[in-house]
Amino acid sequence: MERFVVAGGARLAGEVRVTGAKNSVLKLMAAALLAEGTSRLTAVPDILDVAIMAELLSRLGCTVVRAGDTVQITVPERPGHEADYDLVRRMRASIAVLGPLVARCGEAKVALPGGDAIGSRGLDMHVAGLTRLGATVTSEHGYLIARAPRLTGASVWLDFPSVGATENLLMAAVLAKGTTTIDNAAREPDIVDLCQFLQSMGARIGGVGTSTLEIDGVEGLHPAEHRTLPDRIVAGTWAVAAVLTRGEVFVRGGRAEHLEVALDKLVQAGAVVTPGVDGFGVRMEGRPRAVDVVTLPYPGFPTDLQPMVLSLNAVAEGTAMVTENVFEARWMFVNELTRLGADVRTDGHHAVVRGRERLSGAPVRAHDIRAGAALVLAGLVAEGTTEVHDVAHIDRGYEGFVDKLVALGADVRREVVPDEPF
Ligand code: UD1
Repeated sequence: MERFVVAGGARLAGEVRVTGAKNSVLKLMAAALLAEGTSRLTAVPDILDVAIMAELLSRLGCTVVRAGDTVQITVPERPGHEADYDLVRRMRASIAVLGPLVARCGEAKVALPGGDAIGSRGLDMHVAGLTRLGATVTSEHGYLIARAPRLTGASVWLDFPSVGATENLLMAAVLAKGTTTIDNAAREPDIVDLCQFLQSMGARIGGVGTSTLEIDGVEGLHPAEHRTLPDRIVAGTWAVAAVLTRGEVFVRGGRAEHLEVALDKLVQAGAVVTPGVDGFGVRMEGRPRAVDVVTLPYPGFPTDLQPMVLSLNAVAEGTAMVTENVFEARWMFVNELTRLGADVRTDGHHAVVRGRERLSGAPVRAHDIRAGAALVLAGLVAEGTTEVHDVAHIDRGYEGFVDKLVALGADVRREVVPDEPF
C-alpha cells in the first residue's frame, strides 16, 4: 500500500505534458481484437489500467508488447472469448471486450464488473443493444454471456448516451451483417477516436462525432496503426490545479476544444485561459470565485472533473451548487473532502459547497481515480500535510502524477505505508 504525502502551500508553475487518454486507449486496445494480426497504438499512457487491459488481452491469446509509448497487439486467428473476474473487478472498462469478442468469435463471456465505487453503473443498454443485433445474452454465475453466430444490423436507441454502451455496440456492429444505426449515441472525443481507429481498420461508419452513428457491417477488418488522442480529463485536472493553487501552467498537448465548458467555468472563477500551439495556458491570480457546475454527457461539463471542481469550490469565494447528472451517487469523495475542512452538503444529485478561506491537511482515502486526484489538489492548498491513501486508484489513470506535480513546484512524495491498517 502506498500513499502520497502532500504539503500544502504550493503554487504550480511551468509546463506539464498530457499523454494519451485512458478512456480512449482502453477501447482502442479492445478494438484491436476485431482483426487478426498486429495493430499498433501510439501515445499510450503508462498507467495501471493499460497494464490490466494488456493482461486481459494476453489471456485471450494476444501478444502485447510495449516499447516506450507504443503498444503492439498481435491478435491470433482464434482469440479466447472469456474475461475473468479477477481482471474485470479491477477495471470495469474490461467490459469493452464484450462487443468485439461476440462479433469476432460468436461468443463472449465477461465477468460482471465491480469497478469504481461511484454508484450503480448498469449494463442494461449494452445488453439490450447486443440483443437487438441478434445476440442471446444471459447472465450466469457472475458472468455475462453473449452468443451470436453472426450479428445482424439493427436500429438501436439508447435511453442515455452511455459511453460504454455506444462503444460496445459500435465494436459489435462493424462486423455485423447489414446496417446498424445507434441513436442517442455518446459523442465524447474518445468515441470519435475509436471510430477513427475502426475506420482505419476498414470499418464503415457514418455520423462520427454526432449522436446518430450509422455502421455498415463488413466481412472482415485488418490491423491498423493509431495515435491515441490526448487525455482531456488529465488536461482538465492540470487546469483546475493551476487555478486552485493560483499558479500558471501550460498544459502541453491538452486540447482546449475538448474542454470548452470546463475551461469556461475556470474563466468564470477568475482564471485566464490562453490557447497556444499544441496546448493551452491557465493563469490565476487571487482567490477563485465559486462556480456552479452541472455534469452532463459530452459536450457538457464532464463528470470526471466534478471532484476537482468540488475541491476548487471548497476554497473559493462564495457558495456553489454542483449537480451530478451522470453518476447518481458520486459523493463518496465528499466525506473525504470534509475531513480536510471543506463545507459541503449533499442532497440527491446536488452538492452545496460553501467556500472556506483555507482547508487543513489530514489523512484521506482515494475511492476512485478522479476523487484521488481531486484530494491531491485539495491537499496542495490545505494547511499542513495531507496524506492521500489508496493511491493505486490514481495510478490507474494518471501517468507520473507525483513527478509532474514536483516538476511544477509542488512538495509531494510517494511513500510505502508502514504495516498498519489505515
Ligand atoms: C465512461 C468513462 C468514465 C466516465 C463515463 C461518463 C471509461 C473507461 N470510463 O464510463 O470515466 O465517467 O464514461 O463520461 O471510458 N448506464 C446504465 N446502463 C448502461 C450503461 C450505463 O444505466 O447500460 C448508466 C451508468 O450507470 C451511468 C451512466 O449511464 O449512470 C453513464 O455511464 P456510461 O456513459 O456508460 O459510463 P462508462 O462507459 O461506464
